[in-house]
Amino acid sequence: MAINNWYKDKVFYQIWPRSFKDGNGDGMGDLYGVYEKLDYIKSLGCDGIWFSPLYPSPGVDCGYDISDYYGIAEEFGGMDAFKKVLDGAHERGMKVIMDLVVNHTSDQHEWFQKSRQRIDPYTDYYIWRPAKPNGKLPNNWDSLFEGKAWAWDDVRKEYYMHLFAIQQADLNMDNPLVREEVKNILRFWLDMGVDGFREDVITFISKPEGLPDDKFMPASKGIFMFNHGPHLHEYLEEFKRDVFDKYDAMILAEAPLVTPKKALEYIDENNNPVLDMMIQFATQEADSFMTDYIHMPFNLRKLKRTYSKWQTKLDGKGWNMLYIENHDHPRMVSRYGSDDFQKESAKMLAVSYLFQKGTPFIYQGQEIGMTNWYPSDPEMYEDVQTRWQYFNVATKKSPKKRLERLWHGSRDSARTPVQWSAEENAGFTTGKPWFYVNDNYKEINVADQETDENSVLNFYRKAISLRRELSSVRNGNYKEYGKASRHLYTYSREDGKEKILVVCSFSKKKNRKWKVPEGFDISTSELLLNNYESLDGITLKPYETRVYRWRKI
Ligand code: NOJ
Repeated sequence: MAINNWYKDKVFYQIWPRSFKDGNGDGMGDLYGVYEKLDYIKSLGCDGIWFSPLYPSPGVDCGYDISDYYGIAEEFGGMDAFKKVLDGAHERGMKVIMDLVVNHTSDQHEWFQKSRQRIDPYTDYYIWRPAKPNGKLPNNWDSLFEGKAWAWDDVRKEYYMHLFAIQQADLNMDNPLVREEVKNILRFWLDMGVDGFREDVITFISKPEGLPDDKFMPASKGIFMFNHGPHLHEYLEEFKRDVFDKYDAMILAEAPLVTPKKALEYIDENNNPVLDMMIQFATQEADSFMTDYIHMPFNLRKLKRTYSKWQTKLDGKGWNMLYIENHDHPRMVSRYGSDDFQKESAKMLAVSYLFQKGTPFIYQGQEIGMTNWYPSDPEMYEDVQTRWQYFNVATKKSPKKRLERLWHGSRDSARTPVQWSAEENAGFTTGKPWFYVNDNYKEINVADQETDENSVLNFYRKAISLRRELSSVRNGNYKEYGKASRHLYTYSREDGKEKILVVCSFSKKKNRKWKVPEGFDISTSELLLNNYESLDGITLKPYETRVYRWRKI
């Protein structure tokens, strides 16, 4: 775990390597591209990078299906390119964390290939079950990506479990040899100088004894059976004791459905924490139910409840990981903001979370307000989960409705290449891009925003530098006002030196009246940040946001 909690003062930037920047012209984002852009990332005020997987992989789930934990994929530039980026980041005072994906491996991984042939010691590395005499599957769980959670292997003549794609076989973490493998992987990267890990669906690694059926199928997909399984805490403690205790590494755990109460079982600083931070999903659910594919009207009150719950319940005990976007969800401007007010809403969304207490993460392209992608043909989608959703789920709806469902729900909306300039292929590559570039790159791109003082990009820079300056943002109390409002989110942060007040309008309406909370006198404040050139008293324009300060000393 991180010594002296260094991660509490960081702002991280997430790189999803395939779409970040191509440096060698083959159409695929790579580490040469990352190296070119290190100064850009630093210029945002970010001093940490989280890399989505860079390891060799067949690419069924864009790298989350790993076939070698000790390498860097050639398509990303191989190990030499990685070491150059790692050194380059460190020279600039930036930390680097890797994705650790150990709930499953690719079926092309050597361990799986040997396990299916029952070659020891790999025989029990995965979750194998024989066919049942009645022809039924070993249990009733679903895969979260495609079909049931079981696939038949013709070599071993048994079923193996896959909670994600068929080619992502779940590891048997109850096998001590598998846990030793995990520890060796961790040591390998930490010894190289990596500063920590984002642990992929780590709360799924311990399956319950006997793999019982889930009573809440089909709604639950089985998730209540394998999330926070019986030995999860014990295994995390073991990784900590045997590995992390010997390094100064940050551990961030992806945790679907986690509540603040549950999170504190792992991150309570006063009670032997085994993790530094957890990634909650609740802030992604203000316009959906359980999954992005079940789309509902955006509900600000739901979002505010989540924000405030995490801010207050963790206060003084655990540390929040703050984010609004990542590679698994459509773009926020198109969801909680508006494509019609792209610039205004992108800035407002930044303010809505950047002044909260915790460590913020910014996903590539978010800093210029990239929007969703609206392809005309479902065949253009690449993502395994998206394709399953279109071709196998909701098939009774009209093709138009089914396509629109993908526009709102697909992860591919956030996976189009970063829009670097108005040049061909958005300046992402000189070759043929591996994936479609969003048509709006001529209007939304980094190069244009660099030269525009009022761009979303420069707004992010201001907001990040401000959050570093303001002592109340690092440690101050959080308080929410006007909880009942369906359009405005207002919160304050306060410490011994200052008090700040943040207001965010999530409304398209031109003249939304803001009720300044009691005890705040705007006439004596300093306005630190806002997204319109002129202010109209307490009347807010579409997606307007403001940050005010009162100094105490
Ligand atoms: C969560 C990752 O963020 C996602 O991209 C991936 O598909 C699944 N875990 C499976 O590894």
